[in-house]
Amino acid sequence: MKKIGVLVSGGGTNLQAIIDACENGIIENGKIAAVVASNDKAYAIERAKKHNIEVEIIKRKDYDNISSYSKAIAEYMINKNIDLIVMAGFLSIIDNNLIDKYQNKIINIHPSLIPSFCGKDYYGLKVHEKALERGIKVTGATVHFVNEEPDGGPIIMQKSVMVKNDDTPEILQKRVMEEAEHIILPQVINLFCNDKIKVINNRVFIE
Ligand code: GRF
Repeated sequence: MKKIGVLVSGGGTNLQAIIDACENGIIENGKIAAVVASNDKAYAIERAKKHNIEVEIIKRKDYDNISSYSKAIAEYMINKNIDLIVMAGFLSIIDNNLIDKYQNKIINIHPSLIPSFCGKDYYGLKVHEKALERGIKVTGATVHFVNEEPDGGPIIMQKSVMVKNDDTPEILQKRVMEEAEHIILPQVINLFCNDKIKVINNRVFIE
């Protein structure tokens, strides 16, 4: 049984999808052992508590820099013997003080088809605003391993979503969450917990 640590900052709909997938058998051989929040206002905290999942609040603003913050998260996850770290709507930047200790064991969900609309400053609603501005017809979500480049790690799984004529950023964000993010993130976690994901020369192969 692999132990999962989930990093959150906001509403926690992706965390909820993981919780539900653990409870309904979509995720096998994996269990959420802890949720770490970057602030104490995240509704994701309430979602975790409702399911008796341990919550640790490690506030970004309590640390002077990214390095000390990354070290604090790494220390917590190692002490909890976490096998897989999942960034689920996590908005803080982390560095090699965490990444190096969890090589290809940290995954992130991004609300676009990487390499489009990703990287520094592309997060949350802004991703969908830029996508609509560009007039793209197909968007979606990507689950990738986390490395030192924002949204630059090996891509594990993607799922497309059609853009509709009357989409606003908010409508599109909701559809991408419901029709892509909340589906592929649990699927990737299940594959990881069952050792079905291999990375060769920075490319991901699913067995
Ligand atoms: C989602 O769009 C996710 O792709 C991004 O953060 C947003 C909020 O996620 N990383 P959640 O509802 O807090 O899981």
